[in-house]
Amino acid sequence: MFREDERTRVIEASGGLARLGALAAELGGSRVMVVSDPGVAAAGHAARAAEVLRSAGLEVELHIDVAENPKSSDVAKAAVVAAAFGPDLYVAVGGGSAIDTAKGANFVEVCGGRMEDYRGHDTATAALRPLIAVPTTAGTGSEVQSFALIGDGETGAKMACGDPSAAPRAALLDPELTLSMPRRVTAMTGLDTLAHAVESAVARPRDPSTDGRSREYGCSAFALVSAGLPRVLEAPGDLDARASMMRASALAGLAIEHAMLGVAHSMANPLTRHHGVPHGLAVGLMLPHVVRFNAADDSAAGDTIRGTYAALAAAAGLDGASDAALAGALADRCARLLELSGLSTGLRQLGVTAADLPVLAAEADEQWTARFNPRGVDAAAFEGLLSAAL
Ligand SMILES: [Fe+2]
Repeated sequence: MFREDERTRVIEASGGLARLGALAAELGGSRVMVVSDPGVAAAGHAARAAEVLRSAGLEVELHIDVAENPKSSDVAKAAVVAAAFGPDLYVAVGGGSAIDTAKGANFVEVCGGRMEDYRGHDTATAALRPLIAVPTTAGTGSEVQSFALIGDGETGAKMACGDPSAAPRAALLDPELTLSMPRRVTAMTGLDTLAHAVESAVARPRDPSTDGRSREYGCSAFALVSAGLPRVLEAPGDLDARASMMRASALAGLAIEHAMLGVAHSMANPLTRHHGVPHGLAVGLMLPHVVRFNAADDSAAGDTIRGTYAALAAAAGLDGASDAALAGALADRCARLLELSGLSTGLRQLGVTAADLPVLAAEADEQWTARFNPRGVDAAAFEGLLSAAL
């Protein structure tokens, strides 16, 4: 399921946190900088990780001062702690914020300067230190990606900062760590994984040499989420279902690494910025409308889009007599998963009005993810999509 030639080795094991010390030592670590966040620390996961590392004979510095949606200044704080300690390995324990802050601190501690200097890809000026990602949510995909998403210090806009050496060397997927997620977080991170799987499967490939891989990973991830998300919502203690969702998150993360995302993500950023809609909810709300919009493409690309949507639907066992019918079934399934999440199903419930749409549409059109959507879009198309989701 995970190809051997990816940069990140994926280790799936319930109770696998106990193996973190051996894994760190195997990767050459002796002084380990552990980056986590206060919520994860309160659940006991950060202290447990530190204890496992120490009992393997490693020196540990624990940094839990990580903010949600980390900014350049959060990275700078972590990098100062790292520079004083002098790590030879990083471990991130948490969701996307902790993993991205660890990646950012690795850039700044090793290469100097500040996060803004590393916007783009292949931007590290020296090889970064090995990083082990230990996710405690199932959603971001950052555990297998070479990018960190960090807020610009002045504008707050998300910067994608990436380098091949920033990708975690290993991702330790221990489903027991996701049991501490509140239902709302389980739902929102699950919807984010869903959107990653569906958007990246049809996105224009960022790396043409691996075209097809994002579709393969996306199909596997979608099948897992389609079956697994209802189960984790209904039976939060079901470890097999939690493991499915963690696997889906990593597979969908790899799909993004090869192909990028689409317009559900383009619209999510302004919805979060102007209306405080959490990322996973924003993409989950927009996704059914995006699938219907893309599937209706009557240009030459339309058949390919519908064919890929049909492959996603078929991977999850959905029925349809034609590619168009299967694409419709995919959109319906995405809408159903949003409904099952128990979160808002329309933008009006979140305080968005018709008068807000032109600004949201214009900002969505400026997002870099829009360029990777398989069907061309403009501000008018975005306004139509947002209006459908009101
Ligand atoms: Fe996302």
